[in-house]
Amino acid sequence: MAPDRDGEKRRAAERSLAFIENGMTIGLGTGTTAAHMIRLLGERIEAGLRVRAVPTSTATRRAAERARIPLVNLDECPALDLAIDGADEVDPTFDLIKGGGGALLHEKIVAVASRRLVVVVDESKMVDRLGRFPLPVEVSRFGWRVVAERIAALGTRPALRTGEGGIPAVTDEGNYILDCGFGTIGDTGALARALDAIPGVIEHGLFVAMADTVIVGQARGVAVLHRRP
Ligand code: 5RP
Repeated sequence: MAPDRDGEKRRAAERSLAFIENGMTIGLGTGTTAAHMIRLLGERIEAGLRVRAVPTSTATRRAAERARIPLVNLDECPALDLAIDGADEVDPTFDLIKGGGGALLHEKIVAVASRRLVVVVDESKMVDRLGRFPLPVEVSRFGWRVVAERIAALGTRPALRTGEGGIPAVTDEGNYILDCGFGTIGDTGALARALDAIPGVIEHGLFVAMADTVIVGQARGVAVLHRRP
């Protein structure tokens, strides 16, 4: 029988709520796993939990409004207690690939603004080495082909992400996304630095040494993993 990935996501999301305490301000990630967390958090708030939250995308803001979660923005509240977010891949050192849902820029800013980043994933996201999932890189629309050439020189063939009708997908900040298959990534820090150095790269989906806790939803139950100090 095929694994029930959505059930695994739901279980991970549900377990992440145990990290939320009354009075906290939390970052809300983007994606299907985060969507479970947002819906369940709404139920806790309905039952009396008092929290405020910063959404990482338009989609998440809409979901949070539907769940009646009180929202603030990062300028009003630049220090968050906790961020809870999904990931596309997680390696044994908790380095991540994120951005499958296109929200990597806001997600990374929210992650660095948070005292703790809790990642919620299904079992398929746990890998020995990052790189099977093409790395999303958010780039300037101006001159994006030039930027893509510079990225290609790092050993990939960047693919412009498109939506319906083949029209380029645009992020919440109005940028393009290049999906970059690098194959197995040997040195995540070195690749992150190389991408950071290219003019026109706004952000990339490598989250290096940022996650504190990873909650893996399983067929029955969850595994809660903490990063070694
Ligand atoms: C969005 C992300 C998501 O967290 C990531 O793509 C995982 O998504 P899902 O929970 O739907 O599998 O990085 O930018």
